[in-house]
Amino acid sequence: MRRATLKDAPEIARLAGELGYPTDPSEMRARLSILTDDPDHHIVVWDGAGRLLGWVHAEHRRALDAPDRVELMGLVVDPSARRSGIGAALLEAVEEWARSRGVDAIRVRSNVARDSSHPFYEKLGFERQKTQHVYRKPLRSDNA
Ligand SMILES: CC(C)(COP(=O)(O)OP(=O)(O)OC[C@H]1O[C@@H](n2cnc3c(N)ncnc32)[C@H](O)[C@@H]1OP(=O)(O)O)[C@@H](O)C(=O)NCCC(=O)NCCS
Repeated sequence: MRRATLKDAPEIARLAGELGYPTDPSEMRARLSILTDDPDHHIVVWDGAGRLLGWVHAEHRRALDAPDRVELMGLVVDPSARRSGIGAALLEAVEEWARSRGVDAIRVRSNVARDSSHPFYEKLGFERQKTQHVYRKPLRSDNA
């Protein structure tokens, strides 16, 4: 396990496709170059000798109406490597980072359709808090 670098962009993009968010490698590189320079973001990869087997992205978030927290922004393990402890290890890396920042809770929003994620989070000590609707408003007429 190690911190992500810009060279990981194509593999992180490939795994984002597994998450349901196919992303062009050059777009992923642009996003990574901003996020890896931002101390409030933490991106860790599981390097399987040239091929990434998983990644996690967490953000230290601040709000007016709640204490600081770390939010899991994305987590995915390659389908060929699931159920071998990689997801739990990536999550542990985020927990360590959160503790090092003095943050005492981690939060994740997970689509109800993500069948594998719910038993995973519950096994790893997360408690379900609420169910929400997600709203989106496009800001350009060509942005459907
Ligand atoms: C959820 C995900 C990250 C888990 O990664 P993983 O490396 O397979 O998880 P681990 O091997 O560390 O599993 C740890 C424990 O969680 C539980 N668990 C994990 N996947 C599970 C599943 N599909 N069904 C039931 N329990 C599961 C088990 O208790 C497991 O321990 P065990 O294998 O010893 O029984 C992976 O399945 C994944 O990438 N899913 C698709 C993307 C996704 O849903 N991401 C989360 C977005 S919010």
